[in-house]
Amino acid sequence: MKGRNQTFVSDFILLGLPIRPEQQNLFYVLFLAMYLTTVLGNLLIIVLIHLDSHLHTPMYLFLSNLSFSDFCFSSVTMPKLLQNMQSQVPSIPYAGCLTQMYFFMFFGDLESFLLVAMAYDRFVAICFPLHYTTIMSPKLCLSLVVLSWVLTTFHALLHTLLMARLCFCADNVIPHFFCDMSALLKLSCSDTQVNELVIFIMGGLILVIPFLLIIMSYARIISSILRVPSARGIRKAFSTCGSHLTVVSLFYGTIIGLYLVPSSNNSTVKETVMAMMYTVVTPMLNPFIYSLRNKDMKGALGRVFNKKKISFFF
Ligand SMILES: *[C@@H]1O[C@H](CO)[C@@H](O)[C@H](O)[C@H]1NC(C)=O
Repeated sequence: MKGRNQTFVSDFILLGLPIRPEQQNLFYVLFLAMYLTTVLGNLLIIVLIHLDSHLHTPMYLFLSNLSFSDFCFSSVTMPKLLQNMQSQVPSIPYAGCLTQMYFFMFFGDLESFLLVAMAYDRFVAICFPLHYTTIMSPKLCLSLVVLSWVLTTFHALLHTLLMARLCFCADNVIPHFFCDMSALLKLSCSDTQVNELVIFIMGGLILVIPFLLIIMSYARIISSILRVPSARGIRKAFSTCGSHLTVVSLFYGTIIGLYLVPSSNNSTVKETVMAMMYTVVTPMLNPFIYSLRNKDMKGALGRVFNKKKISFFF
């Protein structure tokens, strides 16, 4: 499968984070706590939305999908990172590395498509309130979710297959804490031109188009609020869209900061810190951004706990 006549790499070494050895334990505890918060926060949102029938609306079903995607996204990298922080040889087998890359791209893209679906949902709710239930039918919601899954499957598969063509000869040290595509490309001893071209084109399509769609949705929302300004309408719109825009800017802000802002000489450190932001911090914060200050979620929490429906979960 790999390089035919060359000595090929069967394992990669993940260098992990630029942390001094004496601080290793401190960061281990910190990351473990962050990962557990991510898992519990997102699972709580999924359980709440599915148990409480008041929350069976398109917005919350998308939110539940987003939580699922966040949960998986951080589970692709965090457990391996935590394991490697404790082991002497932080290695990952070749197949494991490609698998990690596949799922990393898969859930990263899925998040981006779900943000588009959520923006579209808010756009319809605010700009066409009377037609909302007919436009956002369960069938359309399901189609949007299925379409996101299909597109991300193909996109992640394309990059993974292109990566599987490459040879890795001598150098197997990845200066990162997971199998990042660009770090792998730098290690390869084959010609990576095709990969880079595909990354450039697909990256543009997969990141820029959703980003533009989201911006357009929220621009239409804001202009429609400003056209008929009423204090109540503005407050209502901002309370729902504010949290969405926070998540969107967290997600795209780190990606733009990572890939578009020119890096200084210390770029590996910057890259890992930024990657830490969107793999660990964003999935952890999303549940809090949506549920804090959200009356529906708090109400659901109260109702579900009062009924003691989920007592068996604890
Ligand atoms: C995702 O969204 C679809 C369509 O709205 C819904 O049927 C499904 O239950 C959601 N999945 C999760 C995990 O919430």
